[in-house]
Amino acid sequence: MAALGAGFALSAPYWLPKAVVALRVRAFAQVNGPGGVVVPGGQVGPDRFEELYAHPAANGRSRGAGLSDLFWYWLSPGPEVHQEHLEAGPLYDAVARTTSAILAGSSADLAATATRCAAAVLDGLPSGGTSGGMTSGGMTLVRLRDLMMQVWAEFFHELVFHDPCPPGVRGLITDNAADVVDSLKNTRLRHMDRRRRLTRYLLGRLAAGEVPHELPAGLATARDRAHYLQGTFFSTAVVQMSEAMAHLLLVLATEQDVQRRLAAHPDDDHDLGNVMNETLRMYPLFGIAHRITTADIDLGGGVAYPTGTVLCFDYPAYHASGWSDPQVFDPGRWDRVPARSAHHIPFGIAANRPCPAWRLAPLVMRAVTREVLRRFALHSSVSHTRSLPHRAPCLLVARGRPAPRGRRWAALAFLRLRDRWEDVGRSLVQFGLGLWMVRDARRQRLTERWFARQDAPAAPDARAAQDTPDGGEGHEVPGCPHSGR
Ligand code: HEM
Repeated sequence: MAALGAGFALSAPYWLPKAVVALRVRAFAQVNGPGGVVVPGGQVGPDRFEELYAHPAANGRSRGAGLSDLFWYWLSPGPEVHQEHLEAGPLYDAVARTTSAILAGSSADLAATATRCAAAVLDGLPSGGTSGGMTSGGMTLVRLRDLMMQVWAEFFHELVFHDPCPPGVRGLITDNAADVVDSLKNTRLRHMDRRRRLTRYLLGRLAAGEVPHELPAGLATARDRAHYLQGTFFSTAVVQMSEAMAHLLLVLATEQDVQRRLAAHPDDDHDLGNVMNETLRMYPLFGIAHRITTADIDLGGGVAYPTGTVLCFDYPAYHASGWSDPQVFDPGRWDRVPARSAHHIPFGIAANRPCPAWRLAPLVMRAVTREVLRRFALHSSVSHTRSLPHRAPCLLVARGRPAPRGRRWAALAFLRLRDRWEDVGRSLVQFGLGLWMVRDARRQRLTERWFARQDAPAAPDARAAQDTPDGGEGHEVPGCPHSGR
């Protein structure tokens, strides 16, 4: 009996996390009520996925979906002025134009800024070193997501303010971004105080006239303008770029042949492009992107959806369709199939609110990858999943100072063991915190209340005086039924 108990406990890392994830998906689906229509699936297979996504009536973002309450909750404060959440109209157009203008720049300048920001952060590592990590025998243990967050905090500060990130401000930005993404992945609750500290900094810079961009006139108050900058550049941009880079570097840390090739031929844009395409194919940053139909859709062939249907576009399923061996990491597949005809939409689709950073992101990711590979060899033995809740633990070994093989082997064995056991504890935490936050978001009904106020026949002044829905009472997910990111 004791042997059975011990076997049960010791095997937990192999079955408990999966069991908890399955339970979590079921529990979330129940809490959320009837989910939306998941595509590809049912009436629409991968062959018609993009046709439906591109339909002009598949364009509602927030109004009328319980799921929106969750996304507004995670991206507070100021979700109502975040480009991702705005409904089509003049304010959305003005905000989208402003975002594109801030992200614009010559390729050479953007790449140079990204290289400089990466160098500044990597210089700060002991022995070419650590981001809250441990250094031993020329090796540094880091969590790649946390390390990259520092780089992108610097980078987006420069893009928004045209000046370097002052000491102390990097931490404000990374605290905010980490809080957003950790709550979204259910590994921690929200801490609105951390997010508000950044809002105060942004308000100060706006008041001092230190934002060198014209912001949309439709953002009526200074707080709206601060929330727009915070949500788009210091939450979404920093989070997405850090996650994308963490996936890419973790791939290189585990695919040693690929890493050796890229390090030996740093100017081979083609090879790096294939590796990036393959990384984003296997690990798309969005799990689900949802839309609410704003009119009836009839695609023909018996495929029809009434107004108000919540369509859930499942990126991993679409990216896995149409390939042989989709689960195999194979950058070479991109030489065999032109990207145009592949089921591959890492930045969304051009006809329906694509990512405004579709040009910038790959450009600056290449620059930062080269700077990292120039300095370090990367090694890791941890699991790699799309949601990356472990923040990508990795060993950085300074180039030219190879660590003794035995020491590296021991460090990788430690990483593997720690990863398995962390997974057990973390899956239980995610289950509990996830349920709590889904319930809290449903209780706060940020989206529903916001639109009810917009629709109420109140005097415009009275409406403007109402609180913005920052959902700041306390301290993430699945909608359809997985988490959006
Ligand atoms: C590798 C990095 C990135 C990836 C893979 C990515 C991916 C995506 C995807 C798939 C969408 C569309 C989802 C949908 O159809 O609803 C999206 C939307 C968006 N992304 Fe990105 N993103 C990245 C980086 C960034 C950055 C750096 C920014 C900086 C501002 C950004 C801002 C946005 C915004 C504002 C939207 C909403 C667009 C709209 O609704 O008009 N993203 N992103």
